[in-house]
Amino acid sequence: MEKIVVDGGRKLEGEAHVQGSKNASLPIIGATILTGGENVLHMCPILKDTITACEILNLLGCKTVWQGKTLIIDSGGVCRNEISKCLMNKMRSSIIFLGAILARCGEATVYFPGGCDIGSRPIDLHIASLKKMGVEISESCGELRCRVSGSRIHGAEIFLSFPSVGATENILLAAATARGETVINNAAIEPEIKDLCDYLNKCGAKIFGGGTQVIRIKGVEKLTPCEYNIMPDRIVAATLLCGVAVTGGEVLLNSVRPSHLSSVLPVLADMGCVVRACENTIFLKAKNFLISSSPIRTMPYPGFPTDLQPIMMALACVSRGTTIFVETIFENRFRHVPELRRLGASIKIEGRVAVVEGVKMLRGASVYATDLRGGASLLVAALAAAGKTEIFKVCYIDRGYEKIEQQFSKLGASVFRV
Ligand code: UD1
Repeated sequence: MEKIVVDGGRKLEGEAHVQGSKNASLPIIGATILTGGENVLHMCPILKDTITACEILNLLGCKTVWQGKTLIIDSGGVCRNEISKCLMNKMRSSIIFLGAILARCGEATVYFPGGCDIGSRPIDLHIASLKKMGVEISESCGELRCRVSGSRIHGAEIFLSFPSVGATENILLAAATARGETVINNAAIEPEIKDLCDYLNKCGAKIFGGGTQVIRIKGVEKLTPCEYNIMPDRIVAATLLCGVAVTGGEVLLNSVRPSHLSSVLPVLADMGCVVRACENTIFLKAKNFLISSSPIRTMPYPGFPTDLQPIMMALACVSRGTTIFVETIFENRFRHVPELRRLGASIKIEGRVAVVEGVKMLRGASVYATDLRGGASLLVAALAAAGKTEIFKVCYIDRGYEKIEQQFSKLGASVFRV
């Protein structure tokens, strides 16, 4: 079985570039379905999930070609409207293709999506919103048959009971070429939503308020393809910062948007790191020891991201004092905890709360990635641990990080894949 092996305890130093955002790429790749022509997406990360997204497009009749980190998608030939069960099982984001397929084809067959097991992850908000826009949906044994009643999806006023990222994206994709106006109230305001809106507007959509809680979409007849630069990945940027901080090192991150990390950088500063942010760079210098942070509660953007909870927990494991984590977004997002304990971490869990008592030192061990960010958390912890750590089930980490072992080894870590 493939594994990442880390010989921990080395101070990391240097400069790093941040890859394009996975969570921005996926809905934009889905959105190209709406354009019926050749799109050029720069800074598209080459990952398990973006490759799965291309497989979905190919299945629907699109052509996809990678040229380095540029993904060229020709959606002119869309001729099918079903995503196979196998592809839907590979990643949860496959569900956001639904709005785009319905807008383009008028019909779609999909299945309940799979993905990382971090909670029940229902799609009721996606379904209720599409129904409000005139889509008839019937479900049988996990299969969703969807059909637009009338010739086009129609606009609607939608209130999301929770600002779901995926539901907001699905509605945007369905609404961009719908008849009439759609308003999304309590929309997700994550930067990836703004990136999707910017891409769609570049294709000719009329979307106002992307990145705010109220988004207005005036449906247009047709979108045209475009060339677009995907935003940098804020979760990868923070993972690199945490990996360096946990070793007492120093790093200059390039091609990053510090404003996307406004709830994360203060935590690193709180833990004793010097953090300086400029327009597109972040400099971090850590002390030889970290101090525990005030309680960390995951929240929708601009709150502390749930995707960084496991990774920041790795830092808390070796910080002086106690750090409390409250996970409010996903109910099953502490699966990395037993693995961190194998490295010597002291963590107690009570429901959605984890209490981490910092220990003097972690020790290398064999551990298993349990999900994407949980796997990254183990890697960060391993960088600080004395001795050798083997991380198995690396396939989870590969869903979101481009050759993560190379990124850390460039900074001086002893980490390799076997
Ligand atoms: C996206 C991100 C993921 C991140 C999450 C929260 C992508 C590809 N993934 O996931 O990395 O962790 O946002 O920031 O962008 N919910 C419902 N019903 C729904 C939809 C969601 O109850 O119809 C609940 C979920 O179970 C979860 C919460 O809402 O508890 C957040 O989900 P959502 O914002 O939709 O996350 P994703 O789009 O799946």
